[in-house]
Amino acid sequence: LDAPDASPFDVAAQAADDIARLTGVARHDIALTLGSGWGKAAELIGETVATIPATEVTGFSRPALEGHVGTLRSIRARDGRNVLVIGARTHYYEGHGVRRVVHSVRTAAATGAKIMVLTNGAGGVRESWKPGQPVLISDHINLTADSPLEGATFIDLTDLYSARLREIARSVDPTLDEGVYTQFRGPHYETPAEVQMAKAIGGDIVGMSTALEAIAAREAGMQVLGFSLITNLAAGIQKTPLSHGEVIEAGRAAEPVISALLARVIEAL
Ligand code: 6GU
Repeated sequence: LDAPDASPFDVAAQAADDIARLTGVARHDIALTLGSGWGKAAELIGETVATIPATEVTGFSRPALEGHVGTLRSIRARDGRNVLVIGARTHYYEGHGVRRVVHSVRTAAATGAKIMVLTNGAGGVRESWKPGQPVLISDHINLTADSPLEGATFIDLTDLYSARLREIARSVDPTLDEGVYTQFRGPHYETPAEVQMAKAIGGDIVGMSTALEAIAAREAGMQVLGFSLITNLAAGIQKTPLSHGEVIEAGRAAEPVISALLARVIEAL
C-alpha cells in the first residue's frame, strides 16, 4: 500500500479476497465502521458468522498506534444480508498516510458493499447537545488539507451523506439531530479558538476521522450514512478541560443505547 506505484484498488481487491476466504462469505451488502462508543452494535445486528484479526487481511497489517489489533467481522442480518463490521480504524493522525486511512473503506467496496455506515465519537460544538447523544452527520468540512483521491479525480460530493439514508435513520428515531462534521487532523483536541472557527464556518461536530473515509466511499460508488456520538462538548464550549478518559467513559455509558439504535437503523436500510 505504501509503494507509490501500487494501486490502492488492487490492494483492496486482494483484501476482499482474503476476507472472502477467511470468513467464507463471498460478498457483503453493507459495511459498518465502529468508532468510539459504538462497539456493541455488532452483536445486535445478527449472527456473527466469522471474526478475523485485521492483521490477516492484506493492507491492514500495520498495527494501530494504540497497539490493539482490530477485528473484521462478518455478520448475517436477520433478513439475510451480509454486514461487514470493521473494528479497526486507522486514523489520519497516526501518520501512515491517507491510503491506510481509507483502505478499509475501499476493501468494503471491493467485498460488494453498496452502503458504508461510518460511526465515530466526537466533540459537540452546539451548546444544546449533551454528552452521550448520537447525531446524524449531514455533511462535512475536511480540514486535513488532504484527500484520498490521487491524480485528477474530480468527484462530486453533493449529498455525500445520503439524504435518503438519513431519512431512514430518522424514521427509526425521530429525535435524532444532525450536523456538519469537521475533521481536524488531531491527535490533540482543538483550541477554543479553533472550535469557534469550526462553528463560524458551519461545523457542528469536531472529530479526527470519517470525512476522508466518506470521500473514498463516494469515489468507490457507495452510499454513505454517518453517525457521531457526542462524547463531550468541544473545548471552550464545555467549561472543563477535555480528557481522553472522559471521552472513553462517555462512550461506554452511551454504548448500549446507541448500539441498539444503530442495529435498528441497519435493519431498516
Ligand atoms: Cl472535542 N475534538 C476532536 N477532534 N475529536 C474528539 C473530540 C473533540 N471529542 C471526542 N473526539
